[in-house]
Amino acid sequence: MKTKVLMVCLGNICRSPLAEGILKNKLNPDMFFVDSAGTGGYHIGNAPDPRSIAVARKYGIDISNQVCRKFSPNDFAEFDIIYAMDKSNYGTIIAQSKNKADADKVRLLLSELDVHTIEVPDPYYDADEGFEKVYHLIDTACTAIANKIETGL
Ligand code: 4NP
Repeated sequence: MKTKVLMVCLGNICRSPLAEGILKNKLNPDMFFVDSAGTGGYHIGNAPDPRSIAVARKYGIDISNQVCRKFSPNDFAEFDIIYAMDKSNYGTIIAQSKNKADADKVRLLLSELDVHTIEVPDPYYDADEGFEKVYHLIDTACTAIANKIETGL
């Protein structure tokens, strides 16, 4: 059985598609399944934001085939770990949990890092520099996550 990781932001077009692509790129696909979703339903069926596609491509990762979907309470049964990009999305996910086992699966992405920043900022209304910054924050967190889950912790 593969370990399944879900990345969640608001729109599922900027941050969580990057997180999905970056973490996938660091893990063995025979052992891990990585997906992403948004707590808002504004962009269902759309490709990621062109600025996320561009910054991922700059670092050799293709996220252009991803399709936006909304987070579902069924995801608690489907996934082993659910990473929220910020506190607002963390709260929205936790509010849909049915029990402690569900809630225990949810973490803030940056809680995996020993840093003061705890939220991946929403770059949607930013210039391209925002996407560059977000890429590196997510990449650093995903390196820590990959090291941790590959050793079964
Ligand atoms: P994301 O960014 O949560 O990183 O995908 C957003 C994208 C779109 C919207 C909000 C955040 N929106 O309101 O449309």
